[in-house]
Amino acid sequence: MNDPSPTGRAEEGPTIWVASDHAGLAMKRDIAAWLAQAGWRVIDLGPDEPASVDYPDYANRLAEALKDKEEAFGVLVCGTGIGISMAANRHRHVRAALCHNATDARLARQHNDANVIALGARTLGPEIALDCVSAFLDAEFEGGRHAARVAKMS
Ligand code: RB5
Repeated sequence: MNDPSPTGRAEEGPTIWVASDHAGLAMKRDIAAWLAQAGWRVIDLGPDEPASVDYPDYANRLAEALKDKEEAFGVLVCGTGIGISMAANRHRHVRAALCHNATDARLARQHNDANVIALGARTLGPEIALDCVSAFLDAEFEGGRHAARVAKMS
């Protein structure tokens, strides 16, 4: 597992957890660096080498990290974002949204109270991926009519 503060930045910022598989490793690193620059304390749950790994193992790590935490967010990256989001969503407390653009990401927070954003390194360019993460973290759950729907999922 990687150092909890890979960038060496101050630890007082809000914490966010990131994980990937081998296909998502490079994009995860870019996102982690961007998040750290934006003031987040980034905890990278791995992998930290390009050797082939199984995405459920890393989705499970991230789910474990978010367990029993309120307002805690995670970023998952695999080749398409599909497998790793499926695996993460096996956990009742995880609402992982596979996003392809900033609108997906914003609405995933506003309407679905997503706590994890999943991205595909093989299907998204790096700028779009960062736009997604930025929109996701800038948006807030709107509650209201959405709250009952979200509650029905858990
Ligand atoms: C790994 O080759 C690939 O299958 C994985 O990253 C992901 O795309 C699965 O959904």
